Amino acid sequence: MSVETVTPTTAPHTGPLTLIHSEDSQPGWWRSAVIYQVYPRSFRDLNGDGVGDIPGITEELPHLAELGVDAVWLSPFYRSPQRDAGYDVSDYCDVDPLFGTLGDFDVMMAESHRLGLRVIVDLVPNHCSDQHVLFQAALAAPAGSPEREMFIFRDGEGPEGHQPPNNWQSHFGGPAWTRVTGPDGQPDQWYLHLFDSSQPDFNWDNPAVHIEFERILRFWLDRGVSGFRVDVAHALVKAPGLPAWGGRADGGSSDGFPGHEAPMFGQPAIHDIYRAWRRILDLYGPDRILCAEASVDLPRLAHWVRSDEMHQAFNFPYLHAGLDVNRLRTVITDSLTVLGAVGAPSTWVLSNHDVVRHATRFGYNGQGPRDGDGIGLADPQPDTALGRHRAAAASLFMLGLPGAAYLYQGEELGLPDGIDIPEHQRQDPTFARTGGQRLGRDGCRVPLPWRADEPHFGFGSGNDPWLPMPSSFAGLARDLQAGLPSSHLSLYRNMLEIRRGLDLGRGSLAWAEDWCTGSSLAYVNGTTLVLMNLNHEPLEMPAGQVLVRSASSGLESSGWDGLLASGETAWIRIGPDTSAN
Ligand code: BGC
Repeated sequence: MSVETVTPTTAPHTGPLTLIHSEDSQPGWWRSAVIYQVYPRSFRDLNGDGVGDIPGITEELPHLAELGVDAVWLSPFYRSPQRDAGYDVSDYCDVDPLFGTLGDFDVMMAESHRLGLRVIVDLVPNHCSDQHVLFQAALAAPAGSPEREMFIFRDGEGPEGHQPPNNWQSHFGGPAWTRVTGPDGQPDQWYLHLFDSSQPDFNWDNPAVHIEFERILRFWLDRGVSGFRVDVAHALVKAPGLPAWGGRADGGSSDGFPGHEAPMFGQPAIHDIYRAWRRILDLYGPDRILCAEASVDLPRLAHWVRSDEMHQAFNFPYLHAGLDVNRLRTVITDSLTVLGAVGAPSTWVLSNHDVVRHATRFGYNGQGPRDGDGIGLADPQPDTALGRHRAAAASLFMLGLPGAAYLYQGEELGLPDGIDIPEHQRQDPTFARTGGQRLGRDGCRVPLPWRADEPHFGFGSGNDPWLPMPSSFAGLARDLQAGLPSSHLSLYRNMLEIRRGLDLGRGSLAWAEDWCTGSSLAYVNGTTLVLMNLNHEPLEMPAGQVLVRSASSGLESSGWDGLLASGETAWIRIGPDTSAN
């Protein structure tokens, strides 16, 4: 643990504090948990086919336990044609042979529990794969049949129904409707797909869809999972009549979140679904959770986490706040206040499998890449050292916050996005559906480097990885970083250990006003001051013991002189040590 005592150069107090949030004493492991996202395709390839697998996860779980996380969330590993990297599910109750077997899953669960790690799985209820038996049955059945009622089929507009039923666009580009050929071989109805044409949307107005998903929930709960991350949780119910929508395909408004009027998102009836699911989870005890991937603004996010609905929701406003101190302060204050008002903890997140990794995003001054669009060789290039330096600061700032935090695999290594990905290897449907205009999300999905000296940096010893790994990953491999006290990985271990020791996830938050300038931001959580300096100049730290600082990741050490470097965060003890050890 990096601990340093700074000779006091200022009075040993923090100045005026603005209390926003008090300590959390409500029960629930998830209220303060650190949850690590495993993206199975890219975690560890044990069978050598070039794609990660479940035995690979089991093999490396001890590293996650050692890192100090509480739980893992697995992105989809279900049977799937992999048109959207597994978010196109053809059988919700089986493991895709690409990843292993149900038996492998059970072994992984047992190993996780042995190591004290909980497991959350992804649930994709908005749509399935066009290869799902229910969709295949719908294709074979006539218009108006119960089979078609499982999905959103409509007659087309115009002469002979040649036009789509409305003007909705797919998230991945192009129209959100595809016309099918009827059982008689003639052009027939259209079906709705908010994402790829291989991902037909379920019809959540049909009770049979509810019954099917309640069965799926029970299947995985019976197998011991601690809960579900619910994919596009805001999209299941569509406005009656499917009215035309003139706004963005993602329903977004200028703040990046669906406007209140977007007919495909955030419809009120959605909440009844989650209330029903919550009742099922509660039958399994208080430790099973639902986490919403609901891309909505904060006031509405609170509706998803009322006491009889989901336990958590991803905090995308936090992710989108970047390193803008004013936005960060507003988002943190609003999150703790608005979610706190319904008794829910906040969550925090900086990276996931859908956005450019924060070590790359923060390598830009000014306008960086647009979410989901990715970066290629023809785009302005990030400053990778700067990005990693600031990413360390942002992570240290985030992990001091009260509430739960989600980490994305590889961020503990400071991994950047893969940028040099040849077109023929790009797999995100966004790339094909936009004719290459949007590169998509492959860059953040590049496989992990485990051991610098092994083939494919230890990701797998057989076929080439499904996406090329940059040569720079050699220097970022986990085994190299594990032995270096100044590495990014060591920083993550230190901060997670201190966070746990001080119970920061259960803590309080008060803004330390003297340190909240236009270019620095500081809060006090219990006896710890968390200070991030985004000024171009170093900042003199307040008196206290430095528990951990982000530049100890060694990339741009500011020296141990009481100064906080530009783009650096520190945790400083400002009161007596109250940790258990
Ligand atoms: C997932 C994406 C996926 C989409 C469609 C999302 O929000 O995180 O990876 O492409 O849902 O399932």
